[in-house]
Amino acid sequence: MSIQLNSEQKQIFNRVVEAGFYADPGLMHSTFRRMRKEAPICWLEPDNYRPFWAVTKYADMKEVLRRSDVFLNAPRRQLFNIPTEQGMIERSGNKYGLALRTLTDMDEPDHSVYRNVTKDWFSKKSVAELASDVRKIAEEFAEKMVALGGECDFVSDIALWYPLRVIMSVMGVPREDEERMLKWTMELFGFEDEDLSRDNAKGDASEAKSAQATLNDFFAYFSAITKDRQENPRDDLCTLLANARIDDKLMPTLELMSYYVIVATAGHDTTSSSTSTGMLSLIENPGELEKLKSNSVYSEYFVNETIRYASPVRHFCRTANSDFNLNGTLIRKGESVVVFHPSANADESLFEDPEKFQIDRRRNWHMAFGYGIHVCLGQHLARMEIGMLFEEIFKRIDTIELAGEPKWASNSFIGGLKSLPITYRIK
Ligand code: HEM
Repeated sequence: MSIQLNSEQKQIFNRVVEAGFYADPGLMHSTFRRMRKEAPICWLEPDNYRPFWAVTKYADMKEVLRRSDVFLNAPRRQLFNIPTEQGMIERSGNKYGLALRTLTDMDEPDHSVYRNVTKDWFSKKSVAELASDVRKIAEEFAEKMVALGGECDFVSDIALWYPLRVIMSVMGVPREDEERMLKWTMELFGFEDEDLSRDNAKGDASEAKSAQATLNDFFAYFSAITKDRQENPRDDLCTLLANARIDDKLMPTLELMSYYVIVATAGHDTTSSSTSTGMLSLIENPGELEKLKSNSVYSEYFVNETIRYASPVRHFCRTANSDFNLNGTLIRKGESVVVFHPSANADESLFEDPEKFQIDRRRNWHMAFGYGIHVCLGQHLARMEIGMLFEEIFKRIDTIELAGEPKWASNSFIGGLKSLPITYRIK
């Protein structure tokens, strides 16, 4: 049985599709709190969007992600408004508007075949072998904070660049290309926020045009890398991808380019958003900062809590391929189901005082990395790099304070802080 929303609920709950909703964490959390309580699985029909089931409770989200045989990633993995979707269909030349075919657009059996290409590379054991390289990069950025002399914008000076340097070094992309990589990532994932988008495209078919232009640049860049790594193989992820064989053939161009795009971008924005949220949370909770500084045993818990608290991935979408009874609500074949990570990770039936930042939170089984077959491939790398950066920062820096108003990005897919001015005392 599905819950009928009254007009006030519809008006408030429909806001989950708006980019600006995620730039106001207070509004976001109070709305999700109401949704979990009043209508945890509800049918939303926001203006300008194709309707969908909104799933906000932890257990229901887990079930949707677990049942990847019913809830498919293709063809709608993310919410776009209708003009954007139409623009994407026109430009992509296929009826779904998919200019990419990344792991997150694939279902079984293809998904496993492609995921297996890099599965070992991203395993906990292999990532541990990257520790000394990542540690060096963390040291560099902590030193950069020292060189900045006690004042910086933690987002634009540190958090945006650090994960980018890590993932570029893992991929084997030269340092001099980092700037354009950052620009492309922000354009692809930040294009709802007018400060971050290409040509300030916003809210209509020009969004699709803008994203497509960025993708074309990305494709041209990685085509050259592919050629180089096929001719001059090295020990890096680009070499693995450029030479990977599926059914004894090199990867088809679309899937190969999409692989570069997902690894370069998924590993960057999400980690940088978590890092800056971690810093803000420590500033706002000095007791937690003291705990972290006093005992390194907290480092791992802190990282996990930071990622839960940040939940930088705001939603993912699935499409039912058959009728399914989701905890008493009938989802019909062909209907879209959207899961909201920040809501599940603040579900009071699982987390005590969920809106509190507590670095020693136990049984912190959040789903910021997703769940099931699509669970984040880069989670071990993300955890390691965030932990190392804070360890290196607190070896060099003593107290940290806010030096201005933090600003949140308007983005309904991957979000976080876009500015965090701080002052700090160097040891
Ligand atoms: C998938 C979150 C860091 C690469 C995902 C998904 C989430 C997520 C929620 C699931 C998508 C779905 O359900 O369809 C995060 C967060 C991160 C992070 C919160 C940082 C704190 C990284 C890093 C990489 C990465 C460092 C490195 C390359 C990927 C890839 C997928 C993925 C390739 C697709 C997996 C698949 O569909 O099988 N991530 N991610 N992520 N992530 Fe991450």
